[in-house]
Amino acid sequence: MSLQPSQIALDDETRQFALLLRSVTDYAIYMLDAQGYICSWNPGGERIKGYRAEDIIGQHFSRFYTPEDVAQGLPAHGLAVARREGKFEAEGWRVRKDGSRFHASIVIDPIWEDGELIGYAKITRDITERYEAQQRLQVTQKALAQSQKMEAIGKLTLGLAHDFNNLLTIIINSLDLIGMRPGADARTQELVEAALRASDRGALLTRQLLAFGRGQTLAPERSDLNELLLRSMELYRRACGGTINFETDLAANLPPVEIDVAQFEAAVLNLISNSRDAMPRGGDIVLSTRLLPQTTPPAEPEAAPRDFVCISVRDNGHGIPDQLQERVFEPFFTTKEVGKGSGLGLSQVFGFAAQSGGFASLHSVGDQGTTVSLCLPTVEGAQ
Ligand SMILES: Nc1ncnc2c1ncn2[C@@H]1O[C@H](COP(=O)(O)OP(=O)(O)O)[C@@H](O)[C@H]1O
Ligand SMILES: [Mg+2]
Repeated sequence: MSLQPSQIALDDETRQFALLLRSVTDYAIYMLDAQGYICSWNPGGERIKGYRAEDIIGQHFSRFYTPEDVAQGLPAHGLAVARREGKFEAEGWRVRKDGSRFHASIVIDPIWEDGELIGYAKITRDITERYEAQQRLQVTQKALAQSQKMEAIGKLTLGLAHDFNNLLTIIINSLDLIGMRPGADARTQELVEAALRASDRGALLTRQLLAFGRGQTLAPERSDLNELLLRSMELYRRACGGTINFETDLAANLPPVEIDVAQFEAAVLNLISNSRDAMPRGGDIVLSTRLLPQTTPPAEPEAAPRDFVCISVRDNGHGIPDQLQERVFEPFFTTKEVGKGSGLGLSQVFGFAAQSGGFASLHSVGDQGTTVSLCLPTVEGAQ
């Protein structure tokens, strides 16, 4: 029996189509029946999701979804939208046979025959690499924008602090001279002393501003951070107050760093005070040190990686809401009531870290607590 020409064409088309699907390895292309059960499979599906045709045909397509997405009814939602609107497109995490996850771009089209829905065509592409590259780029851009903002505030603060310092020097010198003038009565002395006390507070404030603007005159000394911490442990313990359980977790054999000891101690005290303030009803503070090997500072993605020693203060206090996390290092940013917070604690930590060639970082999850780390570069070439 000879075949009719139209039959040959049809056969050819079916064969061509099967060949086409078999050759596509970058896309999982398969059909679902009207209920979402898989009825065809291609090598792209096997490559992306790890299942062979015999493992997966007859299974429900929701097994590619994460348990969280299944719980939210996402697979059924995709089919419903495709049926109603003629197409469903989405991106999201999917699960391979081995349980690993990949970021997928998917399209679902309904297949109609004589007005009846007979199934769906589904195309899935693995876009994990592109997605992760985008995420990395976003993180870098955000870090860059943040560091530019801090840089700008730093310059402004530095200019202001310098001018203010010069004015204060004149005020303090003049007050000293007034106080020393013969014949000044007791009341004048009293007023001069009050003015001097206020000026001293002003001078302290400008020093804190200089610290943020990285304009402090630092006196760096080669130091072992553990030794410094142990030396002032009693001070830190007292700063915690009575209701807080204070612990340390110091890594052994840390390489030395070169830092201004007084500023370092001020920074640790600032961190501990913040943790204490975040736990008015008590809690735990852990002061720890560790080596952070070969790291690029977050604000300088172009810099060569190097070793840092980090000291971290961790608490289980009320945490810092996401939207405030970018602002807490700014000078004068405080959520504490007037008189309680100056907003200059973390800005000192930030400025001191940066001026010492390091960086400060923050990790906070609402209700679980906060960890602030101060990372200082190790002395190059030291053991
Ligand atoms: N450990 C912490 N837990 C919760 N919030 C914190 C913590 N450390 C800092 N903060 C938040 O950051 C703000 C700024 O801190 P800081 O610069 O030390 O200023 P201040 O302590 O004077 O408010 C605080 O007001 C607080 O909202
Ligand atoms: Mg503080």
